[in-house]
Amino acid sequence: MTLRVGVCVSGRGTNLQALLDACRDGRLDARVVYVGASRTSAPALERAKAAGVPAEAFRPAANGGRDGAQLLMASRLVAADVDLVVLAGYDRILCDEFFTRLGDVPIINIHPALLPAFAGLNGLNVHEAVLAAGVRETGCTVHRAHPGQVDAGEILVQHRVPVLPGDDAESLAARVLAAEHLAIVDAVAQFARSAAAV
Ligand code: GRF
Repeated sequence: MTLRVGVCVSGRGTNLQALLDACRDGRLDARVVYVGASRTSAPALERAKAAGVPAEAFRPAANGGRDGAQLLMASRLVAADVDLVVLAGYDRILCDEFFTRLGDVPIINIHPALLPAFAGLNGLNVHEAVLAAGVRETGCTVHRAHPGQVDAGEILVQHRVPVLPGDDAESLAARVLAAEHLAIVDAVAQFARSAAAV
C-alpha cells in the first residue's frame, strides 16, 4: 500500500521538495497527497502545485485565530486520508486539537540539529548556537511530534554533519540542509515500509 503523506510547511519547502522528488523517482513508496501552509507567501505552496499536489494556506487571521486555522488544516489532512503528517519547516507550535483531530495518524518533525541538543531554536539561530557552543559535530533529527512538546519526541533518524574550521552559520546551514533532505526521506521510508508490510 502506497503511503499517503500530508506535509505542513511555512517557508521555502526544500524538504517538501526532497519528498516530492523521492516519490516521483520511486525511491519512496509514498505519495504526497496534501500540503498545508501557515502562510500564503510560503514558496513551498508553489512547489506543491508544480507537482500537482493540492495545497492551501491557513492564515490565523482568516480562520478565527491560530487554533481555528490549525484545526481546519487538520480536517483537510484527514479528508485527504493521510497515513502520515510531516512537519517540514512548519514554524508554529501546533495546538492540542490538531493532534486530536489527526487521531492515530503519526506526526513527525524535522529539526536542524542533533536533538536533544539545540532544541527550541529556529533558522540560522540553531547554527549560530552550534558555532557559539564550539561543538565539532551537528546534524539533523527527524522525530515524532506530540501535543505540548517542541522539538521532542521519539527520535526516528539522525544524520551527523561535521562543523568545519571557517564555518559560519550560513555554510553550516547549507551542509545541514543537504543532510536533512536525506534524513526526511529515510524517516518517511520507515513508515512506507510498515505500510507496505500490512
Ligand atoms: C529546515 O531546516 C527544518 O529542519 C526546519 O525548518 C527548515 C525548513 O526548510 N524545521 P525548508 O522549508 O524545508 O527548506
